[in-house]
Amino acid sequence: MKRRLFNENWEFTLASALDAYSSDGITKCADPFGAAERFYEYSNWERVTLPHDWAVALPKDPNADTVLGARNKTAFHRYMTEKHSESDRVDAVGFYRKSFPLAKEDEGKRYFLEFEGVFRDATFYVNGVFMDRHLSGYTGFTMEITDMLFFGETNTVAVRVNAGEPEGWWYEGAGIYRNVYLLVGEETYFVPHETVVKADVDGTVSVSALLRNDSATAVTKAVHFTIEAPDETVAATADRTVTLAPYEDKTVTASLTVASPLPWHVDHPHLYTLHITADAEETAERFGFRTFRFDPEQGFFLNGEPLKLRGACVHQDFGGVGVALSDNLNRYKIARLKEMGVNAYRSSHHAPSPALLRACDELGMLVMDETRMFGTSPEATRQLTSLIKRDRNHACVFLWSIGNEEFTIQNTPFGQRLAEKACRIVRALDDTRTITYGGNNGLHYDGINAAVPVRGVNYLHGGKIDQYHEEHPDQPIVGTEESSYLCSRGGTVNDVGSGRIDATGNVTMDWGSTLKGWVKYVEMRPWYAGGFMWTGFDYRGEPSPFELTNPSGSFGTIDLCGIEKPPFYYYKAWWTDAPVLKLAPHWNHRDGETVTISTYTNCDRITLSLNGKVIGTKTVERFDAPVWEIPFEAGTLTVEGVKDGQLLRDSLTTAGRTREIAVTCILPAEAAEDIAVFELSAVDAHGIPALAACDLATLAIENGTVVGVGNGDPASFDYEVQPKEETALFLRTFAYEHGIYSVPPKQENARVQTTWRTATHKVGFLQPKEDLNPILEDDYRYVIRSNKAFDAPQEFHFETHFHASTDYEYVEFERLHGKATVMLDGAVLGSNALGNTANVRPFRFYTPISVGEHTLSVTAELSDGTFGAMSGYCKIGKAKRVPWQVRLHYGKARVFVKPCDPSKAVTLSATVTEE
Ligand code: GAL
Repeated sequence: MKRRLFNENWEFTLASALDAYSSDGITKCADPFGAAERFYEYSNWERVTLPHDWAVALPKDPNADTVLGARNKTAFHRYMTEKHSESDRVDAVGFYRKSFPLAKEDEGKRYFLEFEGVFRDATFYVNGVFMDRHLSGYTGFTMEITDMLFFGETNTVAVRVNAGEPEGWWYEGAGIYRNVYLLVGEETYFVPHETVVKADVDGTVSVSALLRNDSATAVTKAVHFTIEAPDETVAATADRTVTLAPYEDKTVTASLTVASPLPWHVDHPHLYTLHITADAEETAERFGFRTFRFDPEQGFFLNGEPLKLRGACVHQDFGGVGVALSDNLNRYKIARLKEMGVNAYRSSHHAPSPALLRACDELGMLVMDETRMFGTSPEATRQLTSLIKRDRNHACVFLWSIGNEEFTIQNTPFGQRLAEKACRIVRALDDTRTITYGGNNGLHYDGINAAVPVRGVNYLHGGKIDQYHEEHPDQPIVGTEESSYLCSRGGTVNDVGSGRIDATGNVTMDWGSTLKGWVKYVEMRPWYAGGFMWTGFDYRGEPSPFELTNPSGSFGTIDLCGIEKPPFYYYKAWWTDAPVLKLAPHWNHRDGETVTISTYTNCDRITLSLNGKVIGTKTVERFDAPVWEIPFEAGTLTVEGVKDGQLLRDSLTTAGRTREIAVTCILPAEAAEDIAVFELSAVDAHGIPALAACDLATLAIENGTVVGVGNGDPASFDYEVQPKEETALFLRTFAYEHGIYSVPPKQENARVQTTWRTATHKVGFLQPKEDLNPILEDDYRYVIRSNKAFDAPQEFHFETHFHASTDYEYVEFERLHGKATVMLDGAVLGSNALGNTANVRPFRFYTPISVGEHTLSVTAELSDGTFGAMSGYCKIGKAKRVPWQVRLHYGKARVFVKPCDPSKAVTLSATVTEE
């Protein structure tokens, strides 16, 4: 199948901004109601490019659940924490629509939509037809849409997303946050995710693919298999001829041999590509030649050679963008982990994004691939099956994980039964990798640990794992989750009250281990296959133990925006061959204060001096990180050491007030879909890095749009995405043939949701107030209504005069009924083209509105007296246009930018803002 990225030109709205989101779409085929319809006007929806996460743009709210990232998009902990009042708005539901034309000539192919990840509970409609519902926020979803399409016409896909229930205990985002593809196949096509490639280091490749004849005639196909080597030459070929009866599915297999294949390894990730064609139909899978083995005494082996797993558990979010990472950001995260010597990634605790796996294939990062839902229920089985089918050809995936910390059942026969079956499901789909489970149950064996071939240890339990190894000498062991120390980028104190932590990595949760503690334990035991630190990067949510003060966690060795914390250099020193000597965190303190300074190095001996005077010399043992307690004195602290005959030096200098903010492009945007990353760093008047600065920076940008900002401060409630507040003037009264129409004042507050049915029935013709049904009066100052039906359509003219004291850029009506035409100062702005009274929704008409007097009018042809021409609010407005700002945290912040045109350089500048 041909894959076309389908990320552009989606329209999005939160359901709280859209009354008529209701779908009611399953009573009749192709006959839903509201935003799921094939034709639906949605002029004031936000135009978005996927990937998109609406939760990251919600304000961080200290009263929302900090464990889930402090956004009001879930009511999950509402009853547990009693933090919310019932009236709080919860932005749980969003709606996406995309229209796409198909030409008459496109007919005859087979069309599929592939959603790589939607958080979560997504309901799909194509041209108004209810298609399916997909609950998991982590597995992908592919559906055929051919039957629903119109050729030579416009087609519509609509997706309703309900992110209101969590699947995890961390920030999970909201929306269509991974790529979407349109897959186009021939009438006889390879079924997506049914191709299996198994490659051994000896060069043998066995392939099977599922070919489907979706036509009424029998076909005979010449199937060609070609393996393309990393240098793009042909490494092996095979041919088959296959005959398929009408509507038959047939598995096609082949065995190929590649002479002297270049093996895939974390240090040299050679990738091959298998292409299979059947006439015009084609499919391709990338793979690598490698073997994996776990040994209970000697640990892990890659391609027959021992390799200590130096891993990191990582959640999928990132600074500024939430969970909506562009492919280049996924790649950047993996590259950063590799820089500090990480060779294995645990996708905790869910299916990773395909873009992340591609990056791991290409950059050389092993992946422990984990399903979200443990068990064998239909949904758990669906998730596990979909994960394995999607990921089994990836060179990087070396270990499946069937779950994590199932507290209540992990030590029970019930848990064991489920785990045994889950393992059978995995093995039936892939017999080339082994299986584990993240168990935080120390010495326990009976239960889930007995069912999995490789014992996954979450946390060392005070070293009890030695005993587990003695008791179960035949079961290999890997540290699926270790450490859970807390650290900041520049802190020197620990204060639980204010959510601040130091930078050393020596402060840990009671179940965790310090930086040096876990590394020494794992590195010193050959039977311990390795371990995964919790976590490689900070992530939103789970701010243990700072649930009351912080919206983000502090477990990461790299902060949320990708800036390394000092322990990064510890790993770099001991997990890579690079010469490392690093002093941390900074040298800006109060006079006389005793400061803890860390040194991370692989030099044998180091000497520390302050302002030219030697303070001391230390011998550095393997896996050590010397710490110094030094009374502060302004000036320069220097450390020197020798590594492999090379003199290394690092220093920290006391900085003055921030004079300038230097801007460096850390990650350029090379493709249109890329997001560029810029780093802001404070420097003083002498050009010295101000590593303790917390100034507010104001940004100016050319040839790009800022999509988000961040500074890695887990305690910050500052915005990551600038709120889209607008300046608006609400127009309250319109004169018309029957008197005055008055709009409901309560609508002025866009955060208040009113029910559309009530509002709709309260507008129409002027009627004496005393005659009204009292139940319907609540929202209105003046109430106008009528239930009188017309014999024939009638035209009405509504008009209002207003004074604009500033310029505005649009006119917006919450609802327009009938066939309504809107005019400003006599010029037509537009109309609600469908004239369908059922389609009630906001209408926005863009037009420059200058300072001064104006006349706005609506001429409407109404055929049903139940409805007036408009209901709800009418306003003129303009988007907020203040520059973006971001506060520096320990002297740094980062800005995430979408370029307008990737061939032109983005110019970003930042100035210190006086407060
Ligand atoms: C583990 C759990 C992780 C995370 C971590 C924090 O027990 O598996 O998801 O919660 O603790 O230390």
